[in-house]
Amino acid sequence: MTSSLMAEPSPLAIYIHWPYCARICPYCDFNVYKHKSDPDLVSAIEADLTYWRGLSGARQVTSIHFGGGTPSLMRSVDISRILETVDRLWGLGIETEIALEANPVDLNQFKDFAKAGITRLSLGVQSFDDKALKFLGRDHDGETAKRAIKTATNMFRSVSVDLIFGWYGQSGSDLNRDIDILLALGVEHISTYQLTIEENTAFARAQKRGLRKAVSDDQSAGFYDLIQARLALEGFEHYEVSNFARPDHRSRHNLAYWQGYDYVGVGPGAHGRIQTKSDRLATIAYRRPQEYSVAVKANSHGIEIREILSPESQADEYVIMGLRISDGISMARWAAISGTTLPDQHISELIELGFLRQDDDRLMATENGRAVLNTITDQLLI
Ligand SMILES: C[S@@+](CC[C@H](N)C(=O)[O-])C[C@H]1O[C@@H](n2cnc3c(N)ncnc32)[C@H](O)[C@@H]1O
Ligand code: SF4
Repeated sequence: MTSSLMAEPSPLAIYIHWPYCARICPYCDFNVYKHKSDPDLVSAIEADLTYWRGLSGARQVTSIHFGGGTPSLMRSVDISRILETVDRLWGLGIETEIALEANPVDLNQFKDFAKAGITRLSLGVQSFDDKALKFLGRDHDGETAKRAIKTATNMFRSVSVDLIFGWYGQSGSDLNRDIDILLALGVEHISTYQLTIEENTAFARAQKRGLRKAVSDDQSAGFYDLIQARLALEGFEHYEVSNFARPDHRSRHNLAYWQGYDYVGVGPGAHGRIQTKSDRLATIAYRRPQEYSVAVKANSHGIEIREILSPESQADEYVIMGLRISDGISMARWAAISGTTLPDQHISELIELGFLRQDDDRLMATENGRAVLNTITDQLLI
């Protein structure tokens, strides 16, 4: 059975990209622009969703994710409008996870977001240390971050916090202090990010001038081990390479990516994956907000790049994404997607070396395997 012959249409995740930020952080290379009000963009997103309904057919929507950029800069009436559109097109259940990425400084809007239907808030805290926050170019301080978490905890079903580690000058005790505060505040989900120096960012330019912005890779690896050890002791599930959750608080939306399910991608630069009647498509929307809105008006969708995924590339993507999660991948599904035999020899070798583990149909990366995941997956690609 190839993926195009899958009996049940997969459930659907919906990603909505809001590309504006109050200011651009010196390490960030996402598709972001200085904040401005953009009523055209909300209408374009709604029209694009209507086009996607035609591509997907009727599906059960398991999650909607407002990502960015900084979607906490959106007006709650616009969030409501978009959610009503999704409800009209596909239908929303009470179980649908509706998540929004928020900057802590926007805490006064949280109540309105909850009223609009947001069930999960993902807070870009990064650190509680004022000197680190200044170094990272953030516009909040540690106290605001704490207040934002406390406010959110009373309003949303799940609160997730983004934590950056590996900024230059960070010590183990700095990191321990951030983790202590997170634990004391009782957040249910933590996404950890190793500070990465991306091309064409202010940090990359500073490093070229000889100013260090990140610690060494060895030090970062030590920080990662520290996070993992402490959160495991506290009962967090390390369910994905960089993500930790209390039971029942995993990100359903991100799981859709890691499990190889379909997702709609609307808004500037958003990526999508969708099984149509004939093919599985990978899509990328126009990156610039204005071009995106113009394209939606002209074509009734915002897709700039549309590629038919071959069974091989679908299988490779399934492995690359699926081995990131503790649940791993289904060997039967992998074989069905690829339509060919699996690389049994490599699988056995990696199991013997302690990098993979097999449990009936499931194949998982061990903790050692996760530490060298790219090398492992390279050997498994079809
Ligand atoms: C799209 S942002 C979401 C939230 C919101 N825009 C914010 O930053 O508060 C997702 C996360 O990626 C992190 N991130 C972005 N660029 C990074 C980099 N170069 N290294 C490490 N983390 C990065 C951000 O700090 C943020 O927590
Ligand atoms: S890290 Fe978040 S707030 Fe900063 S520029 Fe990137 S998307 Fe915007």
